[in-house]
Parts: sequence; structure tokens; C-alpha cells
Amino acid sequence: MDGIRLGDLSEQYGTPLYVTSQQTLIHAAQSAQQALIGATSSLVCYAVKANPTLAILQTFAGQGLGADVTSGGELFRALKAGIPAEKIVFSGVGKSITELREAIAARILAIQIEVEEEIDILSKLADEMKVSIPVALRVNPQVDAQTHPSITTGMAENKFGLSKDHLPDLAIALQQNARLSLIGLSAHIGSQVTSLEPFHQCAVYMAGLARQLLDFGVPLEYVNYGGGLGVKYGDEQPPIFAEWGSVLRAAHGDLPVRLLVEPGRSLVADASVLLTRVTGIKRMGKKTFVIVDAGMNDLIRPALYGAYHPISHVLQREDTVEIAVEIVGPICETTDTFASERMLALPRAGDILAVGMVGAYGISMASNYNSRPRPAEILIEVGGEVKIIRTRETYADLIHHENLL
Ligand SMILES: Cc1ncc(COP(=O)(O)O)c(C=O)c1O
Repeated sequence: MDGIRLGDLSEQYGTPLYVTSQQTLIHAAQSAQQALIGATSSLVCYAVKANPTLAILQTFAGQGLGADVTSGGELFRALKAGIPAEKIVFSGVGKSITELREAIAARILAIQIEVEEEIDILSKLADEMKVSIPVALRVNPQVDAQTHPSITTGMAENKFGLSKDHLPDLAIALQQNARLSLIGLSAHIGSQVTSLEPFHQCAVYMAGLARQLLDFGVPLEYVNYGGGLGVKYGDEQPPIFAEWGSVLRAAHGDLPVRLLVEPGRSLVADASVLLTRVTGIKRMGKKTFVIVDAGMNDLIRPALYGAYHPISHVLQREDTVEIAVEIVGPICETTDTFASERMLALPRAGDILAVGMVGAYGISMASNYNSRPRPAEILIEVGGEVKIIRTRETYADLIHHENLL
């Protein structure tokens, strides 16, 4: 990767090991920004949930990206990494009062309201903190993103966003609220969306709503068309940033407000691989199990969504005949399976495999299940320097917040 031998990294830093290419992150950030050129003005707010590692946020901060955060913890990370508060939006269906206070105190760009109760809570906080709070309304556009049911968010029966039927009334009522200033609209239809049509439908609806509110005199400053752009894990043919951007720009037209997006996955997915060592091979019935030292605690997507990740040998094998194998981790769950009936040249114990496309929702969803320390992360910087951006956890880390009786 970027001229560095992954086999050497696995020897030096151990496995399981996440390795990320900074060059790939920068290329994605620049492609996303370029795709929006032509709108009055634009801002890419990286969805921190996809990968919240500080060095990754720092890399994006350096490219001028903002952030979309969904918790106080993500806000803390984004600020720590140097993303300016005025480029941060805060989404989420159940923000706590503490989190709202932190976001207000930080003076972020806007709190994106998803439940009507938030209006009352924010009004009280505005009084208490003696500030006017910039807010946006997150609309549920009722668009079918045609993606995995677990990652669709913009349909009428999802928990996300405000019902579109109440929207104009809610916006106009908000305008009378002296303590909150309604400056934006946002929507997000789902994740790993691989066709342009749902984006088109959502963008046309959102831009129309924005025009309606501007006509009513609501001083909107931005429309946020969300994230969700899919990536190529296997056979998918997702749109590229430029195609996505041109659909959004066409719908946005000459609206005199900023065009925002909040992509996560598409900015980071292909920047990282997970290196894992084969610990054993086992034949059970008709199946051949390749047991590796990474588990579902390190990368949960295959277990959680049945997600596909490319998996390959890091070193070329002499024997290149491929057979169907089950690639499984060491965890006591049958779902601890990275791939089933995958064609692979049969590895030997000690071989290193690379699981590809793990930059998004990989380390961010990692856990300590089975009391396994979370893996280390390496960044290959532009220029080829190798940096440890997350140290491998120790057993002491596992019990750091616990107390013996
Ligand atoms: C509100 C919101 N914005 C942005 C994203 C990022 O989506 P993706 O990583 O698919 O681009 C998500 C993810 O589910 C989300 O819920």
C-alpha cells in the first residue's frame, strides 16, 4: 500500500492491524469537494461515525472538511482534531441535554433537529445559556434508498428525521421563536446507496422545500443533502463523487444558500485494510475453515449485515489453486465469519490475509467482546512515513474503568 509492504507492517506491529492510506483519504476529500463546485457555495461535512480516529479527522480538517457528528463524543473528537466548530453539524434522533449543551457552548454551525421535543429543550437551553441557537430541521423525505434494510433511514417508517407533512408548519412556527434561528434543512436517506435515483428524488424534494421556505421569508443558509453514497465492496457499481455531485447541484440550482453534504463511508471505505494472521486450518464435514486472529469485535460488518469484503493474500502463494473456504475469527459466535464459500488459495498457518474496504464502520464499530483488546491502527502518510495512530489496547485497558469489590 502506497509503496509500503503490508507483510512488513504485520511483522512489525502485529495483527490484527488496520492500515490506512492518507493519500487515499485526501484524494476522496478532494474529489467530494470538487464534485460540488458550481453551487453558490458548498461544504463537505464528514460523517465522523464512519471512522472517528483522530488522525483521520485531522487529515480531513487539513483538507477543509467540516464534520457531521451524532454524539458528544464525536463532537469532542472533531474539535480535538481541529475541525472548526463553525463547520460542524449535529444530527441524531436522541441527543441528550448534556450533548446539546456541549454543542451550543462550542458554537457549532447548527443542531439538526429530528424530534419536535428538541425545539422546547433547545429554547430552554437558549434562555439558560443566554444565546441564540442556530438550528436545522432534518426532514424524512420518504425516499426508498434501495439499500440494505438495516441501513435505510429515509423511509416513512424509519425513526429518523421529521415527518415531511408537518415540515412547512414547523418551519414557520420556528421562525416565530426568538431564541432559535432556523438556518438549514437536512436529509439523509440511507447508507451504501448505489444508484443515483434516490439521491435525485431526495434532492429535488429538499430543494423545493427550501425554495418554499425562502419564499415564506425563512432566512435559510444551507440545505444538507446527507451522505449515503455507496462504495464498491464487490460487484456494485456505485456512482462516483462527480456523478453524485452533479445530481445534487442540478437539484440545488441557483438556490442562494450553501449546499452541504455529510458523507462518511465514501470518504474512508477504500482507504484501509485489516491485516490478519491465519492461526489454523480445519476441515469439518465438507467445509474448510481458515481461522484468523481478527474477530467480529475488530470488524463486525460481515456478522452484522452479512456484508461482503474482499479478502486476499498479502504475499503471493506458490500454490494458486483456489478452493472454497470459510474465513472465520476466534470468537465464540457462529456469526464470527468474515466470508463463506470464498474462493482463496488455501493459506497456511502464519500467512497474512488482507481484508479490504474496511475504512468505514470498521474500527468505529470495534468492541472488546470476548475481552479482546482493540487492534492498532497505522497510517501511511503522504510521503511514505508510517505512523501509529492508535496503539493496540492492552489487558490493563480492558479493565481500566472497572472496580474490584
Ligand atoms: C444522519 C447521517 N448522516 C450521514 C451518514 C453517513 O452515511 P454514509 O457513511 O453512508 O455516507 C449517516 C449514516 O448512517 C447518517 O445517519
